[in-house]
Amino acid sequence: MIDTHSHLFDEAFQLDIKDCIERCREVNINKVILVGFSHQTNQQAFELAQEYPLFYPTAGLHPSEASKNYKEDLLYLEEFIKKHKIYAIGECGLDYHYGKDNIHEQKKLFQGQIELAIQYQLPLIIHMREATQDTFDILKEYKGKIRGVMHCYSGSKEMAEEFIKLGFYISLGGPVTFKNAKEAKRIAEEIDLKSLLIETDCPYLAPVPYRGNRNESSYVLEVAKQIATLRGMSVQQIEEITEQNAIKLFSLEEKI
Ligand code: NI
Repeated sequence: MIDTHSHLFDEAFQLDIKDCIERCREVNINKVILVGFSHQTNQQAFELAQEYPLFYPTAGLHPSEASKNYKEDLLYLEEFIKKHKIYAIGECGLDYHYGKDNIHEQKKLFQGQIELAIQYQLPLIIHMREATQDTFDILKEYKGKIRGVMHCYSGSKEMAEEFIKLGFYISLGGPVTFKNAKEAKRIAEEIDLKSLLIETDCPYLAPVPYRGNRNESSYVLEVAKQIATLRGMSVQQIEEITEQNAIKLFSLEEKI
């Protein structure tokens, strides 16, 4: 099983990262994607992945990093990508939850990373919050040239199908286990399994029965269990299918 979105480099894991890794082994997790979101966390993800073979790092700039310095930031990111083996660009995207004051910079930073993904032939990890239409419109312009994943997807099933048509996987996390998450459950039940990934987004968004606590990669098992229940399949089947999908998207056999 693979957790396709984790931030185990976060200080929340400083004291017990080895225990977290051990718990991953106990539930049969053999790969974890460590997702960077700023210059500092890109470096942290890379360093942790050097230390532990379980980890596969990415590098990206989250929309909360968007500022007037986006051009310099993109150049710095490109230098990082050239020098470090990473498995995806992201997380990147659009986030209007805290307002649209910097919408221009957010879009520029996002588009710049899409262009890097094309140039360096890497998949994209997309963060999208309260910005579905703009995210879709931007990605659509690059149709046929990009692939990736809509991380911790929380939109409608209909839009999920549209993102799949653009070459994206749909990744479900802890919220699919929440009682009131009707749409996420519908997506888990109905979308083509070929397009499904699972993740934790730890340390955030812990699934039931850990809701409200620190999340960690081993809890991705709860996400797999929920999807298996909804689809009337075995957990093992969901684990295997989503693992193969992740290996394909991120070219995971290649770690040397
Ligand atoms: Ni994240």
